[in-house]
Amino acid sequence: MRHLQFPPAFIALLLQLAAFILALTGVRLFELKPEPIAFALTCGLIAAVFSCFTPLQRWWLIIQLAFAPALVVALNFNIPPHFFLFAFFVMLLVFWNTFRSQVPLYLSSVKVWQALETFLPQPEPGKSFTFIDMGSGLGGILIHLANVRTDGNYKGVESAPLPCLWSWLRIRWGGFHQCRVHWGDLWDCDLAQVDVAFAYLSPAPMEQLWNKAQAEMRPGTIFISSTFNVPGQSPIETVQVDDLHHSTLLVWRM
Ligand SMILES: C[S@@+](CC[C@H](N)C(=O)[O-])C[C@H]1O[C@@H](n2cnc3c(N)ncnc32)[C@H](O)[C@@H]1O
Repeated sequence: MRHLQFPPAFIALLLQLAAFILALTGVRLFELKPEPIAFALTCGLIAAVFSCFTPLQRWWLIIQLAFAPALVVALNFNIPPHFFLFAFFVMLLVFWNTFRSQVPLYLSSVKVWQALETFLPQPEPGKSFTFIDMGSGLGGILIHLANVRTDGNYKGVESAPLPCLWSWLRIRWGGFHQCRVHWGDLWDCDLAQVDVAFAYLSPAPMEQLWNKAQAEMRPGTIFISSTFNVPGQSPIETVQVDDLHHSTLLVWRM
């Protein structure tokens, strides 16, 4: 995936288009009159076969296979077009730049939040520390940690508007004065003042994120990734969390 020039969704769409043109050419050439669902299944099959020859990950094959048939099935339900427009805008506000970043919104478990508590600096009278969640989703981690360790400053950066607004409201209404969530790009945030940096993203940005953490974080500070490893970098500690996803926390000391 590292050598992929275009976002996977763009490649998948191009392949769907190619499959559609090929299937249509076949239908015209042999003067066939297939049922819409049969035509859609043919398109899906061709797109899935094409995908095998691209760097798309294997799970894309299921999407490629099901995409056109799902469109035909959905059209049969006569759903008003406004519904799709509404759904599109909601999805846009929730997933925003997932198309490019390859990092969708999915949330860590409460057990992960609890495991993170053990990596916060030891409490010292009159001293505070800074924790950042890079891609903070709905702000659950920040609020949980702010509840259990009141001596910390908790920052979140989130690029998707709706999750960011949601977490901002939760923080404001909950009166968590030591929490801040910022609508922006994690690549623009400065890690120099951070004691513990946390990320739960995807395999795609991990190498770049590691380079950023190495360049900006102070020696002795802690970098934690949930689930996704940094290629070629062994963590100093891994914590297996007993949650539904069998999450693993990978911990590095900078
Ligand atoms: C897997 S979720 C993790 C949410 C939260 N940290 C948690 O553990 O529950 C990743 C989040 O990162 C956000 N994200 C992805 N790329 C980002 C970027 N470049 N800058 C800021 N946020 C980003 C996504 O919108 C998503 O909400």
